[in-house]
Parts: sequence; structure tokens; C-alpha cells
Amino acid sequence: MKLNSDRLIIVPFQQSDKMDWFRIDSNPLVRKFLPGKLPTRQQAYDYIDKSIKSYSSNGFGRYAVRSRQNGNLIGMCGFLMEDYGIDFGYRYLPKYWGKGIGFEAARTVLDFGFTAIGDENIFALTLVSNVASVRIIEKLDFSFVEKVSFESHDNVLKYVIQRPSHSR
Ligand SMILES: CC(C)(COP(=O)(O)OP(=O)(O)OC[C@H]1O[C@@H](n2cnc3c(N)ncnc32)[C@H](O)[C@@H]1OP(=O)(O)O)[C@@H](O)C(=O)NCCC(=O)NCCS
Repeated sequence: MKLNSDRLIIVPFQQSDKMDWFRIDSNPLVRKFLPGKLPTRQQAYDYIDKSIKSYSSNGFGRYAVRSRQNGNLIGMCGFLMEDYGIDFGYRYLPKYWGKGIGFEAARTVLDFGFTAIGDENIFALTLVSNVASVRIIEKLDFSFVEKVSFESHDNVLKYVIQRPSHSR
């Protein structure tokens, strides 16, 4: 798969993305609203391996989001099988925040997901304090399900969406 939007190219992760992904995912600002400690290099590398495996086992995964301008990895957006179902998530380097890139990638990847995933529920979890993420989820028309506790965080908002009828 290869998705294009105005400013982005979205493709499956490759082994060669591991170092750049570690740099993004171990940034304390990027992790501010995410559970757990900063990932070790090995944990960041394992995340890429897990995604690559998921492409063949599930037909979807987390994807590499690249700048169209220079091809650099700027973050990720995509799907992951969790114990509560298919999770939709995204993370970007802080220098790209606040420019509409989070929404641009999310819209593009979610539309692709409706085709790849079919009619299954897709969930999105975010801390209530992560205002930009809440805004992206609501602009994508996810429906609020409930407030949950997740990995030591209270006040996690759980949302769900299914492929809309016009995408079938
Ligand atoms: C959350 C994240 C993906 C948002 O990406 P982004 O590119 O900054 O988001 P966008 O620029 O597309 O903005 C989306 C919406 O949020 C709003 N927004 C962005 N930053 C905001 C902020 N700091 N405060 C309030 N609103 C904000 C935008 O105005 C926009 O809403 P609008 O269309 O009504 O104007 C990005 O901040 C990030 O990678 N954070 C670290 C990882 C993370 O927290 N991931 C989500 C875990 S649930």
C-alpha cells in the first residue's frame, strides 16, 4: 500500500525506519499523553517489527508517515490489534504539530482502513487532556463510548467507528 495526501506519503514501515522511529518515539513531548515510560531502543525497534508482522497476519498495521517534500519519517498513523479490538493511533515529531498534519494523515489512513478492515469496530483511546487528539477523533466522526482507565491513566476517552455505508 502507498497513500498520498497533499503533504504526506504513507507507506508500511520497513526495517530501515527503526532508528528514525526510536528518535520520534523516545521524545518526551511525544510521550507526554501516552502510557508507560520512554521506550528503550529495543522497545522502539520491537514496535516496528510488530507492525511489519501485523501487515501479513491482520492485513493492517501502524504505517510510516513521511514528508512528501523530502521523504523523511515524521511519525506514524495506523492500526494495531489490542485486547479491546482494533486500535487507531498516531504520533508525530513535535516540529510538525499544529499544522493540520495529524488530521490529514488520520483522514487518509482511516479511509484506507475502512477498505482494509471492513465492518469491524475501530477504537481510538485518548487522554481527555490531549486536546488535539480528541479534536482529530471527533472530526473523523468517531462516537464516544465511555471513559476508561488504561495502563494507570484515568480519564481515558474511548471512541469507536465503523466503516460508513457510503464507503461500502
Ligand atoms: C496529537 C497529535 C497527533 C496532533 O497532531 P497535529 O498535527 O498537531 O494536529 P492537527 O494540526 O491536525 O490539529 C487537529 C485539531 O486539533 C487542534 N489542535 C492542535 N493542536 C492543539 C493544541 N495544542 N491545543 C488545542 N487544539 C489543538 C487543531 O486546531 C485542529 O482542530 P481544528 O481542525 O478544529 O482547527 C500530535 O500532537 C502528536 O503527535 N502528539 C504526540 C503523540 C500523541 O499524543 N498521540 C495521540 C495519542 S492518543
